[in-house]
Amino acid sequence: MIDERTSLADEVFDNYKRYVNPPLARVMKLSGSPVEVRASGTTIWDHTGKAYLDFAGGYGVFTLGHSHPRVIAAVKEQLDAMSLSGKTMFNVLLGRAAKRLAELAPGDLEISFWCNSGTEAVEGAIKLARAATGRTKVVSTIDAYHGKTLGALSVSGRPAFQERFRPLLDDVAHVPYGDAALDEALHDAAAFIVEPVQGEGGVNVPLPGYLRAVREACDRSGALFIADEVQTGLGRCGLLFGCDRDGVVPDVMTLAKGLSGGVVPVGAYIARTPVWNRAYGKAPLLHTSTFGGSEIACAAALAAMEVLVDDGLVECARVRGAQLLDGARALADEFGDVIAAVRGLGLLVGIELTNEGYGGWIIPEMLKRGVTVAWTLNQQRVIRLEPPLVVTEDEIAYALEALRAGLANAYENLGRL
Ligand SMILES: Cc1ncc(COP(=O)(O)O)c(C=O)c1O
Repeated sequence: MIDERTSLADEVFDNYKRYVNPPLARVMKLSGSPVEVRASGTTIWDHTGKAYLDFAGGYGVFTLGHSHPRVIAAVKEQLDAMSLSGKTMFNVLLGRAAKRLAELAPGDLEISFWCNSGTEAVEGAIKLARAATGRTKVVSTIDAYHGKTLGALSVSGRPAFQERFRPLLDDVAHVPYGDAALDEALHDAAAFIVEPVQGEGGVNVPLPGYLRAVREACDRSGALFIADEVQTGLGRCGLLFGCDRDGVVPDVMTLAKGLSGGVVPVGAYIARTPVWNRAYGKAPLLHTSTFGGSEIACAAALAAMEVLVDDGLVECARVRGAQLLDGARALADEFGDVIAAVRGLGLLVGIELTNEGYGGWIIPEMLKRGVTVAWTLNQQRVIRLEPPLVVTEDEIAYALEALRAGLANAYENLGRL
């Protein structure tokens, strides 16, 4: 048995090293990354049978936990009937999923385009804004993360991810996140794209009222307000959508991650009907996707939206998020030399370290104790805690204890940096 496990770990490392991503393979091996083989609810099991509480949560994908039985059952049933759309005929489930999304989305957001990832949803939103306004400029925020395809990368805010791919979209401007003085930047712009909470930028929570000010500035300039809710949407922040915090309705909202309950890759944007009509009212095939809106993806999304509502998971995120944030703040008091700040909304919590080096001792120690956490992509000094919304009180208490052990380990080994 031991040999089998060892050979599985060796096989996956060799395959990664040769066929997937050699430098990533080495980093993952050095950080002691195990091999995932099974997952359910808040737990992932590795190749040795060890269980881990998933506080990285697939970077926000597993809102319902892993393999939610209702979503799995809906997908299995659909697989027997038809899995991918033939595209030449009406697709019942796409119609139903789009209708349900419009019912849940704020205000008059109504027409949705379905794709397979967050970055595609962002690409679609940028194209929609350009086609609807006849303008080209897109304004974004410093430290934003919107994805890694060329358009989404252009409006992301981390130069290190962009440099090798220039020239990107050329009519893009970046403004400080949280700064409501937008009139000058938005002059003649097609859109302002913004995350209600910057996730990968280090879990940056703006002051209440920021999104309202964004709405007003967009109205003054004629730029479309694109809320990128790929990470904040569908309950993550203890609200159905991050925009609900300020009670605002954007012109376009992008979604992905939790949209199918973490079972089938799916993304979407949803737009106000007049906006969509201005762009595509007479040109239905200008923006399409072969796989987007497939029957299995829509079956998963429909089931996931039902579970989110039926099981009251938005409220769970609010209550458990408060527990997690309070616990993390108490640890910040205890380990003031290691933690610079704790920020969060709902179950999207970031721990900013005083020095990036501490993370290399915290994350492996937590992994050893059976808790997965991860850096934020644009800000290596911030560790994110982003568990499924079904996480229990005891599981949060356990993860906080593991975090305490990680912090103690970091301080013992590195002292004050
Ligand atoms: C706010 C936001 N937008 C877009 C994306 C890109 O999504 P994907 O990785 O599915 O392309 C992400 C991914 O982390 C994100 O957090």
